[in-house]
Amino acid sequence: MTPKTFKIKSFGCQMNVYDGDRIGEMLAERGLSAVGDRDDADLVVLNTCHIREKAAEKAYSDVGRLRREDGTRPMVALAGCVAQAEGAEAKRRSEMIDIVVGPQAYHRLPEMVAEAARGARPVDTDMPAISKFDALPRRRRATPSAFLTVQEGCDKFCTYCVVPYTRGAEISRPWDHIVAEARALVDGGAREIVLLGQNVNAWEHGGRTLADLIRFLAGIEGLERLRYTTSHPVNMGDDLIAAHGDVAELMPYLHLPVQSGSDRILRAMNRSHSTDSYLRTIEKVRAARPDIAISGDFIVGFPGETEADFEATLQIVDAVRYASAYSFKYSARPGTPAATMEDQIPREVMEDRLQRLQSRIAGHQLAFNRSTAGLDTRLLIERPGRRAGQMIGRSPWLQSVHVQTDAAPGTMLDVTLTAAGPNSMTGALLRQDAA
Ligand code: 5AD
Ligand code: SF4
Repeated sequence: MTPKTFKIKSFGCQMNVYDGDRIGEMLAERGLSAVGDRDDADLVVLNTCHIREKAAEKAYSDVGRLRREDGTRPMVALAGCVAQAEGAEAKRRSEMIDIVVGPQAYHRLPEMVAEAARGARPVDTDMPAISKFDALPRRRRATPSAFLTVQEGCDKFCTYCVVPYTRGAEISRPWDHIVAEARALVDGGAREIVLLGQNVNAWEHGGRTLADLIRFLAGIEGLERLRYTTSHPVNMGDDLIAAHGDVAELMPYLHLPVQSGSDRILRAMNRSHSTDSYLRTIEKVRAARPDIAISGDFIVGFPGETEADFEATLQIVDAVRYASAYSFKYSARPGTPAATMEDQIPREVMEDRLQRLQSRIAGHQLAFNRSTAGLDTRLLIERPGRRAGQMIGRSPWLQSVHVQTDAAPGTMLDVTLTAAGPNSMTGALLRQDAA
């Protein structure tokens, strides 16, 4: 049966959210309607993540749960990075999977749905030279803060990471395509654009860099804010750092993963930066934009990590004073060099280190939030809060701020930050824009 309704569930990174949006737009253009509840969907697309084992296992248990109480089930498309990594094997692992489509092939999904409706079980994990982006429909509607993929893939080959295998080689989308998509997003209601890439700061096209792109996009009428993520420390060029000092639309926030504070572990990870070079980069960024919020990613329990290595990680957390950070237990991924390294770390050790790291990070996060209490700033209102009459907006430093207001999503609001919590702030209205 040809599906008439669909539901997309995206896991993992922001690029998967972006891909999920684009898949939805494509299906809608072909006449399918989006439904809120997956029990009502004729087609369910699971847009999966392969980064850690837990994320990948989740994909299969989610597929199993799509069977309805009456024994029927929707058409199931496995998309995203698990689909890329597993390929046809996914069909053997679950007879419920009708379609397997990788992150570089999803523009073919409508065709594949038609094939599946005829009883086939198509698989496409190609990484074609012709970009999927060229086959996708124009952007029409956008959330107040909208994602825009400008760069995809990775050539860095950190020894723990699947991304070079699931997302392929580094590619940069062309300048004109990005500018056109950005304008369409702003026309569709976006006030903020978050430029996405696995190594977003490695974006380049025709000799132009991400800094050039940011400077140009900042001039788009109606666009209030720009952000970009995720950056690699070795691609943090001086022109990009300078843009943080003089492009008002570029928000004072930088996600710059370091992964470990031990140079020995960084070498084993093939990170191509040292703790010193990382800290020098942070210093330069802070010189350009003193109030910038720094965020990061950490892995604890990489093979061979000693207590001394781990303590060096705690030290770099103290040295940087992160405004926020994500930390993970090392997860051995099939096919990556680290998976077969000696001296894999026992689970209890990893758990203990993760807890110590997270409490250290939480202390700095609260300190950062407290340092902003009392400031007058601007919010981009995004969504309703839990309490009546409350909305949640983002500060320039990406904090969630609760504020009593009836302002609609997409409104820019001047507030005073009145109270700091561990994970969010409270704000009070200064005055509303006559928007
Ligand atoms: N195990 C644990 N964490 C990982 N990450 C990437 N690969 C792994 C892995 N094999 C983390 C890194 C990266 C973030 C997106 O996920 O910290 O920056
Ligand atoms: Fe997960 Fe990485 Fe794929 Fe994003 S790119 S979905 S984080 S594996």
